[in-house]
Amino acid sequence: MAKHCLITGAAGFIGSHLVDKLLAQGHRVFGVDNMILGKRANISAALQSPHFTFQELDINDLKAFREFLKAQTKGQPIDTVWHLAANSDIQASGTNPDIDLERTFLTTYNTLKLMQEFAIPQIVFASTSAIYGELAGALTEKSGPLHPISNYGAMKLASEGVITAALERFLKQAWIYRFPNVVGSRATHGAIYDFLKKLKKNPAELEVLGDGSQEKPYLHVSELIDAMVFLFQKEQNKLNVFNIASDGSASTVKFMAEATVRLAAPGAKIRYTGGSKGWVGDVSKFEYSIEKLKSAGWKPRLTSNETVELAIKENLANLN
Ligand SMILES: NC(=O)c1ccc[n+]([C@@H]2O[C@H](COP(=O)([O-])OP(=O)(O)OC[C@H]3O[C@@H](n4cnc5c(N)ncnc54)[C@H](O)[C@@H]3O)[C@@H](O)[C@H]2O)c1
Repeated sequence: MAKHCLITGAAGFIGSHLVDKLLAQGHRVFGVDNMILGKRANISAALQSPHFTFQELDINDLKAFREFLKAQTKGQPIDTVWHLAANSDIQASGTNPDIDLERTFLTTYNTLKLMQEFAIPQIVFASTSAIYGELAGALTEKSGPLHPISNYGAMKLASEGVITAALERFLKQAWIYRFPNVVGSRATHGAIYDFLKKLKKNPAELEVLGDGSQEKPYLHVSELIDAMVFLFQKEQNKLNVFNIASDGSASTVKFMAEATVRLAAPGAKIRYTGGSKGWVGDVSKFEYSIEKLKSAGWKPRLTSNETVELAIKENLANLN
């Protein structure tokens, strides 16, 4: 059945792919983004659809957000908010924690506030592996204690908390998805994006933060969106928490740097800055268990390394 959906962060990397997917499924989609990282080009195709309405606004400007919802929801109440707006530059908030307080936590708090006002019953939330901190072993949804090491992870964990608390007050259902590193076309940030930009500037040398040994699971944005929508339709508990990732595989930064050089600037010299972490708050190694996701009936198709190679090619095409 067609639903009325609101996507926050709709012009961002993942949000814009979600816009396309929900429109393709026949839903009515509303999108908001303050364009700090979002790009109009990401939603250029969606803007042609009569079933998509987009407004540039800051979620923390409650007056503007309320006006938008008031104007748009007349006779067509929103069923679900897909809340993706957040700071996605983890490094930046290492030096200025206010960034994650405002863009990651307050956007969630304020979105919930208006969801209560407009009686919107369901939220789907883009959480992260960063909430687990530096726990060892394969991380399951029950792993703990949860001690994030970045402001970003801390504000995502706090966001999960206000969502579960809202379930006690007015919210009917919540889906909390803990993403790994997500890559693919329309990327607005991330290691591959940075590598390609650096190589465009200087095709002779690539500077890589850390010693290259950092190792994390990478998931293609198309697979992520597929899993998000699959779980939203299939899992109908009041609270549905899932890790989403590729199957047990991971990629090192060394692999990513070498693959980027091979595909974008053959012969470029790679210079590692050294140290096991890329930046303050970087969880340099983690491993995800996706047993719960697989039990629900969803399986990834690509390995982490296949994902990385595909994303490099896509981002290279975007950049050119
Ligand atoms: N990309 C990843 O690897 C990854 C991993 C884990 C979690 N996530 C989460 O997924 C979501 C989407 O991430 P992304 O990679 O597409 O990043 P992104 O930066 O491309 O998208 C986030 C969007 O939110 C917008 N935004 C930020 N603050 C806002 C505000 N106050 N009001 C309105 N819009 C605002 C930005 O302009 C941007 O377009 C985020 O919540 C992010 O934390 C992403």
